[in-house]
Amino acid sequence: MHIRDPKIIARLAELNVELRRGASLGGMTSLGIGGTTDLLRIKNHECLPELLNLLDTNDVPHKFLGGGSNLLVGDGELPWVVLQLVRPEPDVVLDGNFAHVDAAADLGRMITFCAKKDLGGMEGLIGVPGTVGGALRMNAGAYGMQIGSYVREVKLYRAASRKIEVLRGHQISFEYRHTSFAPDDMMLAVTLELPSKSYQEILKGIRICNEKRRSSQPLGQKSAGCIFKNPPGSSAGRMIDELGLKGLSVGDARVSDRHANFFVNAGKASAKDMLTLIADIRERVQKSYGVSLENEVVVWNA
Ligand code: EPU
Repeated sequence: MHIRDPKIIARLAELNVELRRGASLGGMTSLGIGGTTDLLRIKNHECLPELLNLLDTNDVPHKFLGGGSNLLVGDGELPWVVLQLVRPEPDVVLDGNFAHVDAAADLGRMITFCAKKDLGGMEGLIGVPGTVGGALRMNAGAYGMQIGSYVREVKLYRAASRKIEVLRGHQISFEYRHTSFAPDDMMLAVTLELPSKSYQEILKGIRICNEKRRSSQPLGQKSAGCIFKNPPGSSAGRMIDELGLKGLSVGDARVSDRHANFFVNAGKASAKDMLTLIADIRERVQKSYGVSLENEVVVWNA
């Protein structure tokens, strides 16, 4: 979608929002799949109520992009614009055991930064790609840890009230790969309370998790992490593997040979290829196990 109205363009400039025309979302997602649209880069949170009002009153549909690491974007010219926060400097400020983190901060860098100041707890998440905002929205987790356990406060743009609000940790529910945030809420910043641990001890934990991840996941390939959530008490990857489906492909979309719940873009996969593969695998698992797999990957289809 292209914003062409000169009045909107002038107002965006006044709000200090950078307009990047025809951005390729394929280059902004870890799957390397996705078409093009205008990208609005937001430099200060406070403009959001006005910006969203501007877009809504002019019938410009929009979506919020975090780090693009759990996302499958449709092909071709996309029918909505994309909003993304510009990462401020610094993006993490420490105060005792509290880390105040901007949603645009890189999750892994934030964990490493805190570790160097002897604050731990999130070692298992070190290899999870994406932004802190994206991790927060879906309650990213790995190796028995989840970001929600450390959240004390969240600043967000609330679509329902059209305001920037601050929620305390107890007002948010964090479940397995799910939170109580509304789909169109936009994460802006979070305060985490992290346990004190020596850097050496944290490093040991990080090394163990990295080793486990390297040995079981296709880290060097383009993917969105696990495609499906695990059904209660079971593993989607194990079921897909048991059905002998590793390596199954539609075009360049392929079930990883290393971990069957990772679907990789082995070349120039389209969103259509990937969606066909996802539907096919879901159907096969349903037929054999009677289990309906739920997407973990977020799909923005045109
Ligand atoms: N398994 C297979 N074949 C496979 C993959 C897994 O037999 O191809 C078996 C494993 O041997 C193991 C079981 O399935 O017995 C579970 O596998 P794994 O330990 O790899 O964990 P997972 O349930 O597949 C989950 C998360 C990962 C997270 C790891 C480690 C989900 C959907 N996935 O994977 O998170 O990194 O545990 O904690 O919850 C993600 O969410 O994107 C993600 C990668």
